[in-house]
Amino acid sequence: MASLLRGIAKAMHQSTEVLCLDSVIKTYGSKANKVTALGGVSLSLQRGSFTAIMGPSGSGKSTLLHCAAGLDTPTSGSIRLGGTEVTGLSKSALTAFRRDHVGFVFQAYNLLPALSVEENISLPLLLAGGSVEKGWLDFLLHSVGLEAHSGRRPSELSGGQQQRVAIARALITRPYVVFGDEPTGALDSRSGKQVLDLLAHTARELEQTVVVVTHDPVVAAHADRVIFLADGAFAGHLDGASPTQITDHMSTLGEW
Ligand SMILES: Nc1ncnc2c1ncn2[C@@H]1O[C@H](COP(=O)(O)OP(=O)(O)OP(=O)(O)O)[C@@H](O)[C@H]1O
Ligand SMILES: [Mg+2]
Repeated sequence: MASLLRGIAKAMHQSTEVLCLDSVIKTYGSKANKVTALGGVSLSLQRGSFTAIMGPSGSGKSTLLHCAAGLDTPTSGSIRLGGTEVTGLSKSALTAFRRDHVGFVFQAYNLLPALSVEENISLPLLLAGGSVEKGWLDFLLHSVGLEAHSGRRPSELSGGQQQRVAIARALITRPYVVFGDEPTGALDSRSGKQVLDLLAHTARELEQTVVVVTHDPVVAAHADRVIFLADGAFAGHLDGASPTQITDHMSTLGEW
């Protein structure tokens, strides 16, 4: 009975929409040199889902991620993140919302060199005026395999280790969504795989929603769903796909 109830609770939990984009258009520049980076994209992501976004260079992947994460504002359309219409927020409200509810992992790790691993991970919570729960911090340090290095400075870590600090930092506020723009782009393929395995594993364990942009079919195969973009529009999706299936679909989308 208890396990049945847990199953129902989990199913209800998972069917919760956490991110919704409705007809998002983003153009850059004015008349003569206008670029349409996103031509009206709609998307709905459920809580706990792991999504990869792929597409040729210039297809609008970073633009989509930046708009969805509130780092950039769309020209038109609506974006709801965790039930809040982010396109309606003032600049300062958006900054606070992002700080409290959105996690990022960029290609460049963006760690603060003067702070220790532990301090870098805790920083978003402290900036949000929260206090750090020791148990949660220890859990994250353990999850990313850095409990033995918590006092080190970023310069004393490898690239893969630094990216794992960035992942723990992105998770510390328990954000609605963690966004990654080519988070393994600067790593060799072995550390890239470790970082992605870890992100996928931790996300599943925590039912954390994750969206990553990647060029790598092996990385994308970690995702529940791969969404393809071409010329600022959707160009299909694959669920639970293998690297080979992803590569095959990529080859139908022209030059990469
Ligand atoms: N700030 C900007 N000003 C003008 N045009 C821009 C700007 N940012 C992006 N673009 C244009 O919008 C389009 C989409 O760019 P975007 O960076 O989203 O592509 P991408 O899919 O992330 O490419 P890549 O794989 O190379 O990172 C491109 O044509 C790009 O030149
Ligand atoms: Mg990009």
